[in-house]
Amino acid sequence: MGWFLGLGFGVYGWNQTWSGNVPADVGRPGLFADMAASLERAGFDYMMLEDSSVVPDVYGGSMEHSLRTGIVRFDPVPLVPLLASRTSRIGIIATVATTFYPPFLAARLFSTLDHVTKGRVGINLVTASPHAAAQNYGLDKHVEHDLRYTMAAEWMQLVGELWDSWEDGALRMDEAAGVFVDHEKVHPVHFEGRFHRSRGPLNTLPGPQRRPVVCQAGGSPAGRELAAAHADTVVSAVVGVEAMKEYREDMSRRAIAHGRGPEDIKILFLVDPVLGDTDRAARERKQRREEAHAANLEGALAGMSYVSGMDFSKFDPDAPLPDMSGSNGHQSTVADYAKAGGGGRTLREVAATRRVVESIELVGSAETVAAQMQEAMEYAGGDGFLIGSAPTRRTIAEIADGLAPVLRRRGLIRDGYPHDSFRENLLAY
Ligand SMILES: Cc1cc2nc3c(=O)[nH]c(=O)nc-3n(C[C@H](O)[C@H](O)[C@H](O)COP(=O)(O)O)c2cc1C
Repeated sequence: MGWFLGLGFGVYGWNQTWSGNVPADVGRPGLFADMAASLERAGFDYMMLEDSSVVPDVYGGSMEHSLRTGIVRFDPVPLVPLLASRTSRIGIIATVATTFYPPFLAARLFSTLDHVTKGRVGINLVTASPHAAAQNYGLDKHVEHDLRYTMAAEWMQLVGELWDSWEDGALRMDEAAGVFVDHEKVHPVHFEGRFHRSRGPLNTLPGPQRRPVVCQAGGSPAGRELAAAHADTVVSAVVGVEAMKEYREDMSRRAIAHGRGPEDIKILFLVDPVLGDTDRAARERKQRREEAHAANLEGALAGMSYVSGMDFSKFDPDAPLPDMSGSNGHQSTVADYAKAGGGGRTLREVAATRRVVESIELVGSAETVAAQMQEAMEYAGGDGFLIGSAPTRRTIAEIADGLAPVLRRRGLIRDGYPHDSFRENLLAY
């Protein structure tokens, strides 16, 4: 089990009930640290912090909607050691955009985090999509979708070589001989790629995991290839149990083609469970949530604009969903929207029903939802779920103290962590 924080180190539900004391929480670790402790109590594998570097301004060609509704993001990386200091086993994944981070900077940063967290850090590789993000890093516009995955593959190769630039046993700390590190066991990498260059070696020491856990979320063929080659865990938002099954089987095939085993990649599917004391109470809650979502057309269109890079304020909401094939955005997500628009559905209908947070719908009491999760997972053959619900202390308690104990009674989630490092625990269950 993982939990995806969809707005990264951002602001959650600032004008909604149950979101606590937002003015005191903004930009501070409290909520996230409480969350990490709760999820560790619940036996979760990891928390994953999304990231992006823009104030989204595609919708309406303006930042207004984003800023008015509280779309801000702090850099998630400084949060990682703070969360680690409140916990001892759960993994903490922070997102890095391969298109913008120099490989040496990322390799060194995550090697350092691996030490600081005692082997509990993970890196989520994204290629990012908005042109505005690229412009923040000095590019004229963003790189085309498949090319940015080609760049990411080379980036990851270099980062991996830097993590391997120290042999095992290089650290001697031999006081009598006066040798801290055996210099013959540390090597420059002299990497000369098409997009990236670096001399190496790292000037850190290999961390407890040496190679932090690698996470990836690409849904397109190019994204799946990157994941198959490098990821320890993949998070997916494909829709429906058939698509989940196809995804798992496809990733297993791809892993084997890369000389890896299907069991080397843990696949988690994104869900947003709606829990209640009874099934009926949960259904009513879901109904209210759907109504609120449908009433917030602007919010849904802004989300679609962000993901696709197309300004949806320009289209008639009551006309059929416009052609999205020219998008340079998150390709597989755009394909999902296009599919939802089949049969001449209008933009308003697609916006009201399709949200990028659910592989399957989970609604009911904790018992009912646990049974739904078990059934879907047995059919699809995946490894688990990634909760994508907006974190408030209420939703965290519902999942960690309501749902997780029921999953545990069914033998579906771990009962304690047998190992010290994130990767060992992740791969053990
Ligand atoms: C659960 C999940 C988390 C994601 N997190 C991020 C993120 O933090 N930053 C980002 O730029 N993209 C993020 N994405 C988008 C993916 O990196 C990717 O672009 C998207 O899944 C579409 O895949 P594709 O580009 O291969 O078509 C996420 C996607 C999913 C499903």
